[in-house]
Amino acid sequence: MAETKWVALSVGGSLLNDGKPNAKMASSLAKIFMQTKMRLAIVVGGGKEAREAADAQRKMGKSEFYADMAGIKVTHKNADALRQALGKEAGKKIFSDFEGAAKASHTQKYVIMGGTIPGITTDADACLLAEAIGAKQLVNLSKTAIYSGDPSKNKNAKKFSRLKYSQLISLATKGDKRKAGTHFVFDLLACSLISRSKIKAHFVDGRNSSDVKNAILGKKHNGTVVG
Ligand code: UTP
Repeated sequence: MAETKWVALSVGGSLLNDGKPNAKMASSLAKIFMQTKMRLAIVVGGGKEAREAADAQRKMGKSEFYADMAGIKVTHKNADALRQALGKEAGKKIFSDFEGAAKASHTQKYVIMGGTIPGITTDADACLLAEAIGAKQLVNLSKTAIYSGDPSKNKNAKKFSRLKYSQLISLATKGDKRKAGTHFVFDLLACSLISRSKIKAHFVDGRNSSDVKNAILGKKHNGTVVG
């Protein structure tokens, strides 16, 4: 396949799973991804079903390791919904190792991963995948850009249109609880990874199709740009 730039994508589970994989949302995201004509290295998150699966493990007295493993399983299910929506060019499998995904990037237009090991999140996986295939741009799709506080709880929370890596790291440090199903602005490990590799990161609302398209194309959007 001809050499073109890769863009890494972290697709928040909150967009694709509100209790079960949402095929309709997977297909509308896939449509936008295809319109950009870019080569995409995609990692898909777990969403509500992953949090429920993790909680079910805890209720049975299982450790955080098993709560994470249950979450990872759901990320793969969501990733497969997106893979099917993207069709042939997304290949036949969901990768759970970075080197396998990097190898497939030589022959596929889209490579798709779910979670990998307990203790991290698909945000960090997306950054590691970006490093593995040499992507210098990453797009994080969730339901929000980055704010100074939680905009649903704090009316004065301010949206950042630009941030330095150090500012993102300090915001993520406040939210880091290292527990399955907890919510970070962007996982702290993920922030450190984009910082060390100088990967430019765009944070947009995945429900806004023109923002999704513009972020993937590196154009102006209504979200937050880091780096
Ligand atoms: P994510 O945390 O990455 O998805 O994975 P999410 O939180 O639903 O996505 P957002 O909030 O929309 O961005 C779900 C869970 O799977 C486990 C963690 O427990 C995580 O909370 N996981 C995921 C891992 O343990 N390792 C991984 O590599 C990925």
